[in-house]
Amino acid sequence: MPEAGSVLFSTKPEKIENSMTQIARQVSQFAQDVKKGLTATPKYLPSKYLYDVNGDRLFQRIMALPEYYVTRAEYEVFKFQSTQIIRQAVGREPLQLIELGAGDGMKTQLLLTELLKRKVDFSYYPIDISSNALKMLSQSVRRLIPQDFPMLPLQGDYFEALNSPQLKSDGQKLILFLGSTIGNFSAPEAAAFLARLSSMMERGDKLLVGFDLKKHPQTILNAYNDKQGVTRDFNLNLLTRMNKELGANFDLSQFAHFPVYDPVQGAAKSYLVSLKEQEVYCSALRQRIFFKAWESIFMEVSQKFDMAMIQDFAHQSQLRIVRSFTDSRMMYADVLFEKS
Ligand code: AVJ
Repeated sequence: MPEAGSVLFSTKPEKIENSMTQIARQVSQFAQDVKKGLTATPKYLPSKYLYDVNGDRLFQRIMALPEYYVTRAEYEVFKFQSTQIIRQAVGREPLQLIELGAGDGMKTQLLLTELLKRKVDFSYYPIDISSNALKMLSQSVRRLIPQDFPMLPLQGDYFEALNSPQLKSDGQKLILFLGSTIGNFSAPEAAAFLARLSSMMERGDKLLVGFDLKKHPQTILNAYNDKQGVTRDFNLNLLTRMNKELGANFDLSQFAHFPVYDPVQGAAKSYLVSLKEQEVYCSALRQRIFFKAWESIFMEVSQKFDMAMIQDFAHQSQLRIVRSFTDSRMMYADVLFEKS
């Protein structure tokens, strides 16, 4: 069995590059995306760049915040309903358990334990763009679960990895997309993402998606506006990252973190607002970026869902809802879909 954390994503020869070129390519992609976002009106930055090593650490702290109910709500679902989830989700064996986005392993651990208990023939394929995140996940899963089982981390883009020859099988796939990561898409983007996933599934394959549900707007706003300011630091960290990686000179004290929640759209949005007229220079972009006083940068959307939206997604994507598993307070739903 391969080493935990080893990268087994075998791609076409032209895609094999050494890690130096890979890093260089990632840096220039970051630079290009920053340039595009900060010269646009209104300004924005892609939220995926929030997750560098520091951002990962800050997100871990967010997950432990009293205001951030998301973590505990989803954990409760898995803690009490893993047996039912696995019973409904597993058909043909061998099962390929594919996780999109390496979480911290806390929830997956409960599903893996259930699969082992039932002696299901399965392999676990966590997929993430970050090899760091994959390594941390494999380590924590190996630490949490004493039994041995096949775990094959795949580093890369979700859809490229899903196409990888290793994932061709006669068995059944169960794809996991947990933690309300889907909330980083707007509702139309989420629909498109699910349709694309569905197009890569075979009849009978299952998909389990974690959706944070609409609830009291104050509860949602508080989750993105914590008292300790960890979410603020998480957003400001992207300015620090640009200072470090792109040679920019953002003055963090001149930007305020401002989250809002729109109950009509069900969208929590985070902004950084410039406290004064200012100019930032970014040497990697060889570019000056001007901010008017009170000009904003849109940082992240955290979309909230309801059952009608989720049913629409299913209809648009050739998916059937098998069952949804909610926590006791109806804050969160893990929805099991089947490709029809
Ligand atoms: C990782 C996208 C689920 O939107 O709730 C938490 C990210 N940002 N606090 C979320 C996040 C600020 C989180 N997701």
